[in-house]
Amino acid sequence: MRNHEINICYKEYSPSELNAVDKNLIDLAIQAAKNAYAPYSHFRVGAAVLLDDGSIIKGSNQENAAYPSGLCAERVALFYANSEFPGKAVLAIAVVVVNPKGEILKENISPCGSCRQVMVETQMRFKKPIKILLASDKSVLVFDSVEDLLPLSFSQGDLLVDE
Ligand code: THU
Repeated sequence: MRNHEINICYKEYSPSELNAVDKNLIDLAIQAAKNAYAPYSHFRVGAAVLLDDGSIIKGSNQENAAYPSGLCAERVALFYANSEFPGKAVLAIAVVVVNPKGEILKENISPCGSCRQVMVETQMRFKKPIKILLASDKSVLVFDSVEDLLPLSFSQGDLLVDE
């Protein structure tokens, strides 16, 4: 038997310490969250994705009475970015939750497993680390790569077998 240990790294900033690009991305994620369609969970999530040409794509969670048909904010934004701008690498994504008044919450959101999986494949596709900003009104957690959010991620490439 061998023990293995995996370390992940992230930084915690106070909102006032952020640079202008990151602050803008978070502000746009807050704007996006206000467009959430979340009549079932009342959990209003917003994401803003920065592409390598400087353009920013926003997304919010979109729910459905058939619950599994809904989609998280992160995937709405990433899938839209990849379908509209297929050649543009994703450099960063900011994610927030807002209350019914549209104010950012005190708690930092932590993306669900499916969104992490989509982030990891987007990162592999463009071979560039994606910076992840998880913001609340008190702090912003910054991950320099999706690997820090999803260690030991699934990738079919490692598993392909020659027929
Ligand atoms: N949700 C997101 O948009 N992003 C996440 O990372 C986690 C969950 C959404 C899905 C659903 O509409 C609501 O939040 C409650 O789970």
